[in-house]
Amino acid sequence: MSKVFVLNGVNLGTLGTRRPDVYGTMTLDDIERLVKDEFPGVDLQFRQTDFEGEMIGLIRAAAGSDGLVINAGAWTHYSYALHDALESLDVPKVEVHLSNVHTREEWRRVSVISPAVHAVIAGMGAHGYIAAVRYVLDIAPDRGP
Ligand code: DQA
Repeated sequence: MSKVFVLNGVNLGTLGTRRPDVYGTMTLDDIERLVKDEFPGVDLQFRQTDFEGEMIGLIRAAAGSDGLVINAGAWTHYSYALHDALESLDVPKVEVHLSNVHTREEWRRVSVISPAVHAVIAGMGAHGYIAAVRYVLDIAPDRGP
């Protein structure tokens, strides 16, 4: 069975009530259900943490898995520590954002983790997670590293 890590960073546990105008009304549990329903035969390790060190541990735990999808929240924009952890991880990796960060504040247009992943999805809402898992499972293996 394929194993894919879907990691969610800081403040993503408050989805549902946090800026519904930007992020929609789905909670992170709703998103987890949506993604798991789409991939019933996949071992999806769906996690959220507000602690950067814990996130780095989760990224390391994805070594040897079939891939990693990460919404790093605001860490995206400044965490070189997450960049370095992702850079060291040798599995297909996709960065996901619910919102289109490029239409928002200037500082959200910068991602310090993008250079350490294979693909980036922004602005597709919860469906971005599904697209990312599909890429990891179906497309990335044929594309090589
Ligand atoms: C986000 C975008 C980030 O800028 C923000 O800090 C988040 C969520 C998104 O999913 O659109 O927490 O990653």
